[in-house]
Amino acid sequence: MSTPLRQDHAPPLRGLKALTTAFQFMSDPIPVMRSMYQERGLISAFGKVNPLSRHERLVVMAIGPEYNRQILSAPDIFRAGGIVVQGPQGSAHQRIRFGLISMNAEQHRQQRQLVMPLFHKKRVEGYGDAIVELTAQMLDSWREGEQRDIWCDMQALALRVASMVLFGGSDTEEAYQIGQMMKEWLSMGCSLRVQFFQVNAPGTPYRRLLDHAEQVEARVRAMIEHRRRDGIDGRDMLSILVHARDTNGTAMTEDELIGQVNVLFGAAHETNASALTWTLLLLSQHPRIMAELLDELERWLHGDAPRIDQLHHLALLERVIKESLRLIPPVVWSTRIVDQPVTLGPYHLAKGSKVIYSQYMTHHLPELYPNPERFDPDRWLSTEPSPYAYLPFGGGPRMCIGYAFSMTMLRITLAMILQRYRLSLVPGARIDRKYAVTLSPKYGMPMMVHKQDRQFTKEIPRGNIHEMVDLGTH
Ligand code: HEM
Repeated sequence: MSTPLRQDHAPPLRGLKALTTAFQFMSDPIPVMRSMYQERGLISAFGKVNPLSRHERLVVMAIGPEYNRQILSAPDIFRAGGIVVQGPQGSAHQRIRFGLISMNAEQHRQQRQLVMPLFHKKRVEGYGDAIVELTAQMLDSWREGEQRDIWCDMQALALRVASMVLFGGSDTEEAYQIGQMMKEWLSMGCSLRVQFFQVNAPGTPYRRLLDHAEQVEARVRAMIEHRRRDGIDGRDMLSILVHARDTNGTAMTEDELIGQVNVLFGAAHETNASALTWTLLLLSQHPRIMAELLDELERWLHGDAPRIDQLHHLALLERVIKESLRLIPPVVWSTRIVDQPVTLGPYHLAKGSKVIYSQYMTHHLPELYPNPERFDPDRWLSTEPSPYAYLPFGGGPRMCIGYAFSMTMLRITLAMILQRYRLSLVPGARIDRKYAVTLSPKYGMPMMVHKQDRQFTKEIPRGNIHEMVDLGTH
């Protein structure tokens, strides 16, 4: 990223320019954030006018560790608002979107306390067998010499893993089907047509979203009912949540359970699929690093799936994942709503203003990460950024609760794929980004599957991937 022509304290963008910027931001945020940073520095803003009240609210974009700290360490001032549209009062959509991600204050603290035990180290380690089993099934279905869309494969795998650990105790196929319905709900809820056109009339995308939410809710209610009626006390997360009690002995209500499970599922699967896919692309572009990584994997694992107690030996694998999550974080920005008047940098923000912090922009600041667009896992041998300078999983009291789970899944799955197959990008492939809550490859990730013969070659892609990563000439 080139050094910006900083104009800190620039007045907010307004009028048509603000409107087009907001629209471009929702469809492809990285170029917008980048040009705002280049023109205006670490903090900038645009005004959003409510067409009915004509009242203006500021949307502030703040970049870098200091602003991240201010925003993320004050959850009572900068409150969460959730990622999908709110939906009508009392609707199934509103219930299923209401999980940890959109809760605040005491309710957030109480519910987080109930959900956290699902992600304690021992429990997460217990999910290792499911990850190994489902990854092995996927790899058994691949054939040497074929072309595959690795993004599709990683989504299917992450969906199966999330369904299995969340509610797959007894009926994995039922779990998978519900997972697919939730996935569809999330993608409908985040589509631009729904975001900008929330009209509850027959035939509109918004109405379809609300109808779909009713079906999702009905299926999840049936699963909860099943667990209660049959006294199922399985190891899947839903069973554990049904029986969980906070320190006052209070259990979750059924509506809370529905929201939490749905949101956990949504937060879990696309993020993992995105991280796996981008890491496999980056490795395909860096043959030397790939060869060193394979040496490490074979030295410790001898071709087998890793056991949990072996993971700590895989130091290069850990650096590769860390670097991939820095360079292409699956979540590129997150937002907060201002709940009481506050000053952030040069801006005085009224209640109701919005603040955007960006994992991607922070991770690409050259003053924090020299040559930020370079994939360099070894930079982690000599750098230890603050929690607000490296935050692929967010930070502060709302930091991602799935962090340990994801790191376990990424390490196991990558170790298994890379030891068994060599993946090379299809010549001439176009890799453009697509933004929809997570960052994914717009046209998929077409790769050739070879047996692992160490014949690493590099096929440089076309497309706007080159704006994010330095991959050499193309
Ligand atoms: C590579 C994988 C993942 C990435 C990159 C990721 C990223 C993030 C980020 C950036 C946040 C903070 C968002 C904000 O500040 O508004 C977050 C929060 C959250 N994540 Fe993840 N996540 C991942 C995997 C998971 C998994 C596997 C789960 C659960 C099974 C999960 C559940 C959550 C929840 C519930 C929150 C909200 C926490 C709260 O507000 O208290 N995530 N995640």
